[in-house]
Amino acid sequence: MKALVYEGSGKIALKDVPRPHIEQDTDVIVRVALTAICASDLHVIHWGYNRPPNKILGHEFVGVIDEVGSGVKRFKAGERVLGICTIQCGQCPECNRGFPVYCHNGMRYSKEIDGAQAEYVRIPFADASVEPIPDGISYEDALLVGDIFPTGFMGAQYGSIVPGDVVAVFGAGPVGLAAMEAARLFGPSQIIAVDILDYRLDKAREMGADTVINAQKDDVAQAIGAATGGKGADVSIEAVGSAPTLQGAIASTAKGGNVSIIGIFRDPVEIPMHTMVHQGLSIRMSVVNVSGIDRLMALVGKGKVDLKPIITHTMPLDDIERAYQMFDEKLDGCVKIALRV
Ligand SMILES: NC(=O)c1ccc[n+]([C@@H]2O[C@H](COP(=O)([O-])OP(=O)(O)OC[C@H]3O[C@@H](n4cnc5c(N)ncnc54)[C@H](O)[C@@H]3O)[C@@H](O)[C@H]2O)c1
Ligand SMILES: [Zn+2]
Ligand SMILES: [Zn+2]
Repeated sequence: MKALVYEGSGKIALKDVPRPHIEQDTDVIVRVALTAICASDLHVIHWGYNRPPNKILGHEFVGVIDEVGSGVKRFKAGERVLGICTIQCGQCPECNRGFPVYCHNGMRYSKEIDGAQAEYVRIPFADASVEPIPDGISYEDALLVGDIFPTGFMGAQYGSIVPGDVVAVFGAGPVGLAAMEAARLFGPSQIIAVDILDYRLDKAREMGADTVINAQKDDVAQAIGAATGGKGADVSIEAVGSAPTLQGAIASTAKGGNVSIIGIFRDPVEIPMHTMVHQGLSIRMSVVNVSGIDRLMALVGKGKVDLKPIITHTMPLDDIERAYQMFDEKLDGCVKIALRV
């Protein structure tokens, strides 16, 4: 089968590799219909990220169950499913207390197991690691519910947004846009999008951001101050993973406000503790803790959330190397690229 393989030392290639097969009775094999590229895949290429070479990349996908292990209870062959971006057992103490992110038996695609930018993918602990796609929800609508929507939703939740809050989202990439869409569910009075690329700010506006700020053209803290009567944002969500955006988020948050971090950082960042303490800021962060995917899917199904505008390009899997370049270099107005398998 065809698959996008991380070869090590920053190199990727679309290759012919053996098809996966059931290894444990709790596995399923999914025939992938659509997959996507995440900034975290780029981190593997650019940062190494403790990833072994010769693993298939990708952790966002939808498709059809092709084979089912004898111990799988929730699924049968032929069902349409969404892949969740992390593998969790669903039964250990951490899974039971609602923190699958710390699952004792957890695994990561493209690390312990092969990823999903391929014709087929093997999913361990399938009962807790794939989710049915209800009738009436298209693959395109479901695709982003396995990673970036739960990430954005967690960003909104960890910001403890209450109705009337001003929410500033740093980064209008796929994750920031998903965070804005999630934030709207909590009833903010204003959503402010911050980015350095005008075409992404245009996308944020198209998706309902009330105010957009280009951090390369304006002083962000001042601009957010001006947009909030001098108060600052009640909640800032960092969705980039960089020092300027985290420091900008802290500088732009109102006294007693919340900073929620969903960007992934490579380097340590200096935090202005004096400001944090004197302004009484709270800060919360996590890598995505995927729980309640069925509820997020229902929000998409009922049209309460529209993630489809985030997907700006759909290309065949054969063109995935080009798609990586477009996503990495932010070419051709691209925000998120879906690959048709
Ligand atoms: N917490 C999680 O589990 C989780 C899950 C998925 C992705 N992520 C992370 O979320 C982050 C964003 O992912 P993405 O797919 O949206 O990536 P992306 O690179 O497409 O988007 C980042 C955006 O930040 C903007 N940006 C860069 N520097 C900026 C600055 N100084 N000021 C304002 N904007 C700036 C870029 O122009 C871009 O639009 C990445 O770090 C990714 O790894 C985290
Ligand atoms: Zn991801
Ligand atoms: Zn577990």
